[in-house]
Amino acid sequence: MCGIVGYAGARPALGIVLDGLRRLEYRGYDSAGVAIVCDDELLTEKKAGKLANLEKVLSERAATNPDDCAASPVGIGDGTTGIGHTRWATHGGPTDRNAHPHVAPDGRVAVIHNGIIENFAKLRAELEDDGVQFTSDTDTECAAHLLSHALAELRAAGGTDGPQLLAAAMRVVCRRLEGAFTLLAVDAAIPGAVVGARRNSPLVVGRGDGENYLASDVAAFIEHTREAVELGQDQLVLITADSIEITDFDGQPATGKDFHIDWDSSAAEKGGYDWFMLKEIEEQPQAIADTLLGRLTETGEIALDEVRLSDQDLRDVDKIFIVACGTAYHSGMVAKYAIEHWTRIPCEVELASEFRYRDPVLDRSTLIVVISQSGETMDTLMALRHAKEQKARVLAICNTNGSTIPRESDAVLYTHGGPEIAVASTKAFLTQLVACYLIGLHLAQVRGIKFADEVGAVVAQLQEMPGKLRELLDRIEPVRELARELKSEPTVLFIGRHVGYPVALEGALKLKELAYMHAEGFAAGELKHGPIALIDKGTPVICVVPSPVGRGMLHDKVVSNIQEVRARGARTIVIAEEGDEAVVRYADHLIYVPRTPTLLAPLVTTVPLQVLAAEIAAARGHDVDQPRNLAKSVTVE
Ligand code: F6R
Repeated sequence: MCGIVGYAGARPALGIVLDGLRRLEYRGYDSAGVAIVCDDELLTEKKAGKLANLEKVLSERAATNPDDCAASPVGIGDGTTGIGHTRWATHGGPTDRNAHPHVAPDGRVAVIHNGIIENFAKLRAELEDDGVQFTSDTDTECAAHLLSHALAELRAAGGTDGPQLLAAAMRVVCRRLEGAFTLLAVDAAIPGAVVGARRNSPLVVGRGDGENYLASDVAAFIEHTREAVELGQDQLVLITADSIEITDFDGQPATGKDFHIDWDSSAAEKGGYDWFMLKEIEEQPQAIADTLLGRLTETGEIALDEVRLSDQDLRDVDKIFIVACGTAYHSGMVAKYAIEHWTRIPCEVELASEFRYRDPVLDRSTLIVVISQSGETMDTLMALRHAKEQKARVLAICNTNGSTIPRESDAVLYTHGGPEIAVASTKAFLTQLVACYLIGLHLAQVRGIKFADEVGAVVAQLQEMPGKLRELLDRIEPVRELARELKSEPTVLFIGRHVGYPVALEGALKLKELAYMHAEGFAAGELKHGPIALIDKGTPVICVVPSPVGRGMLHDKVVSNIQEVRARGARTIVIAEEGDEAVVRYADHLIYVPRTPTLLAPLVTTVPLQVLAAEIAAARGHDVDQPRNLAKSVTVE
């Protein structure tokens, strides 16, 4: 939610900042802007809409006025200090004037911001009483005015211009702000320095050679450096070409946590695919293999030493809550079936945005599993903090090293999905499922319950999943054809039972967010309690059918539900296991997936639904990677 980039070094900043913004655009694309310090001038440009609009304005500017820096013969392309922003609008609509950066009236100080400044109305009123005129509807503009005032006061008190003055002024501002924020700022009078600050919102530092970076996410600078520094809560960082200085908001020195980014920059490129989402769907076999890597022993056991919860802690667990949002919540719904079956520990799944408001009963023997691809989702973070206040233990499943949710959890199991750029989650979902299975199996193993004997068998099945997925993706073409047939439908319904129910919900979510079509997922057995009234002649119903092997009763029940919808005129699209002959006569379209034990089946049944949604969206002419109104990382509640 909002992507921010900062650069201080010796190279022209504009190109580096724009490249960084391109890689962060998934975080928001309502507007984009840059501020470059060029000699002692501040040069800015900002534009509503996607980054391409800003780039167009910048290239027109370069064409018409190559020497547009008033004080020198160099232009905006030549300054070597800069900040850039790509916005997901919160306060103030997605217009040019609300785009970041926000520049103080002195024309020297520029600020960009991710988050929400909760006391902005009070601050704005105070500033207006002092005669400040606002030029936007944003909360961020307060920070620009406050920073400019703080700099003026520090100068009046004898402070000399230099990076430390900028940092000191930013600390004054941060102490006045409430809410969630990452702020970056530059002052044209202090060239060569960028200051950043964070509270409840992401900010990482990239450590370069004679240059340093700040960004919401390492993707912004991975092309230039793979050495990064994670900042703690309520910390401020000052970068110049040669230094990185971290303090708290009172100016006390603080240390960040160094880490190495182990994926390379090509992981954040489209690599010949039309859309990141299609690339990420194709990467799923590898993502699953990487998430399993090193966590299964040759003797068929689960090795999760990295999870910093002792075996005794895990034996003490008497209740599990899985807490997450959106797609991550759907992975939690699947996990509930697996964890309860394997461990016999009661397990509930909760929407993070609801969790703390219903005052859940938690204690030291409750295990909270929070699931988040980004590690920054504010709803999930707040649920986590609530759980910790109640003394529950928190285990995070996360894809993003250095993010807030794993940092604040007692333990973390990272998914190794690599960067997920498309806004709609695909490989993150599948790797979250794998992580949940690993946790369930590990708990069963540690607690030595009867099921532990079967762990080896499930481990072997998990190891087969990358191959099965590859096989499925190699014959996905008919799903693309089906997408063209369904693209004009007004509504698509999805049904499933057991773990097929969250798969139905996930299929519907993908279609809503990408194709902007009405889509709803139902527990197949619930249809007759109301939703069946929606079925009209030709209504497409996508039916997720469980394996006929093992849980035959479940299979037969879903087949009955398919017959019920067909009897009311539905056009049935059936996703079933290879060799399932029983469904053939009830399917208008049949998509076979490789044979997979029931609990692991979502790893294969979800994939055709991802492809279907992406292809329908493309056929309807939508931006598959950046659907309207959405952002990848939702850092507001
Ligand atoms: C949908 C999607 C979202 C996220 C949700 C949680 O395709 O991606 O529903 O799953 O916003 O995000 P994370 O996992 O980053 O906490």
